[in-house]
Amino acid sequence: MSNEISALQKARATYQPKLPKALRGGNMKIDLGEPSHPATDADQIEKLFPKTYGQPVAKIVEGDGILSAQPLKVGVVLSGGQAPGGHNVIAGLFDALKAANKESKLYGFLKGPGGVIKGKYKELTADIIDDYRNTGGFDMIMSGRDKIEKPEDLAACKKNFANMGLDGLVIIGGDDSNTNAAVLAEYLKAEGSKTVVVGVPKTIDGDMKNEQIEASFGFDTAVKTYSELIGNICRDATSAVKYWHFIRLMGRAASHVALECALQTHPNICLISEEIQAKGTTLQEIVDYIADVICERAASGKNYGILVVPEGLPEFISDIKSMIDELSNILAKDEDYIRDLGEHSERVQYLSNQLSDHSARVYGSLPAEIQEVLLKRDSHGNVPLSQVETERLLIDLVSDKIRMLKSRGETDAKFSPLAHFFGYEGRCAAPSNFDADYTYSLGYAAAQLVRGGLTGYTVNVQNVTKSSDEWVAGGTPVTMMLNMEQRKGKPTPVIKKALVDLDGAPFKTFAANRDDWAVNDRYLFPGPIQYFGPSEVCDATTVTLALENGGCCSQCG
Ligand code: FBP
Repeated sequence: MSNEISALQKARATYQPKLPKALRGGNMKIDLGEPSHPATDADQIEKLFPKTYGQPVAKIVEGDGILSAQPLKVGVVLSGGQAPGGHNVIAGLFDALKAANKESKLYGFLKGPGGVIKGKYKELTADIIDDYRNTGGFDMIMSGRDKIEKPEDLAACKKNFANMGLDGLVIIGGDDSNTNAAVLAEYLKAEGSKTVVVGVPKTIDGDMKNEQIEASFGFDTAVKTYSELIGNICRDATSAVKYWHFIRLMGRAASHVALECALQTHPNICLISEEIQAKGTTLQEIVDYIADVICERAASGKNYGILVVPEGLPEFISDIKSMIDELSNILAKDEDYIRDLGEHSERVQYLSNQLSDHSARVYGSLPAEIQEVLLKRDSHGNVPLSQVETERLLIDLVSDKIRMLKSRGETDAKFSPLAHFFGYEGRCAAPSNFDADYTYSLGYAAAQLVRGGLTGYTVNVQNVTKSSDEWVAGGTPVTMMLNMEQRKGKPTPVIKKALVDLDGAPFKTFAANRDDWAVNDRYLFPGPIQYFGPSEVCDATTVTLALENGGCCSQCG
């Protein structure tokens, strides 16, 4: 890394993140509640996790307790996509371990869970940590998308931990990685290993949340970064008055990112995948809706506009979803054979014979690049949707429709579309004050769970819309958040992804305003994230979080 740092980095390095009250002094203990159970599939989950099933919810409170003050050896790993605040989780973990006993050591496993399996790590010392405080990115130890699941991987981890004398491992990741933390915790406990495993809820997608986990870290910063960019484009659109901007936003499955950015900027159109799925809307109906708005705006002289589309959309359109599911089942048995087919046309031919007639037609109608992307799976079995250019697909289909309407004399709309994709621009932004505080607190609390010897837990910090004095940290047993889902063609325990709740306040606020936003220009310009200045600008949470917690905000209209 360069020795030179920017003025902002310099100023930001001195920022001291806020902590929940109970974590501020040295005097804390863990209160344990009643045994926990998952909302569904309890019997199957208990069978799969006999050693860690049913553990109580944990709360870290002030008071004399039994938290270990022995020197501990703890490992940390970053798993999956980057999210702003990852470095602060590590800094919080480091500071808490050292505050309890300065002989404690923290080791960073390199390049994600693959580094844990291979036993590749480095000791994280104060010098290293200090360079990364309040910075974005995961470059301190890097990340990866490997999964610790094969028996030989689990055995390798056990061996590495024993060699290192590791007391605990903190896995910073999303729903899949926290599920993986539970699998590893169960295995290690069954094998009599002393290493405990604690997960930290990370993902810019915002979909690892539930009654216990109020937010996944990184969402706040990422959506503020995208909203700044969208607001700038809104201003450009009303200045140039000649372009329709089709903007795709990251978010593998859920539409939280798109919905939040819509609440922050008021685009003319925002598609919400969960609504499209609930209504069974077809691709053609989506195209018709977009074309209607374009024509209506054109009729009042506005040949410009902003459309926001979530990256996860294809999997929520019923035709495309069934086709992707069929493809997953075919890949589960024939993946190697399909990969070995040299030519794209051979793969399409082979798959068309395997797919149902309808899915074969849908697959055949897609551009070749999208057909190829739909054959890829990451180690968690997910389609890499960030590579599907849905915004361009929609531009093509809408252009055809507008051409057809023009030829019939039904519109005189001038449709000049521009495509954008915002994803990587937000994943490594310097964490907002919220994410800086939240992640530091998560890391600090994770250290207490390790000190308490808890395993198979995801750390949480609650009451986050209130001042940090009222924040409460603790741990949620991962088995409590699991349900059984089909993955790679097999029933698999996974943490239930939180999709946009169509009965929730964020969606209802959007739905109540979207017809007005479609035809009138109600754009908002949130501007860049502010780290210094008035609290209402610098410390505001997302509109989603405010609305979910019964609040309101100047932006929700
Ligand atoms: P995580 O769920 O691992 O946090 O990743 C989220 C994400 O940013 C998605 O929004 C996106 O689809 C994906 O990562 C892209 O990751 P990659 O660049 O590895 O394909």
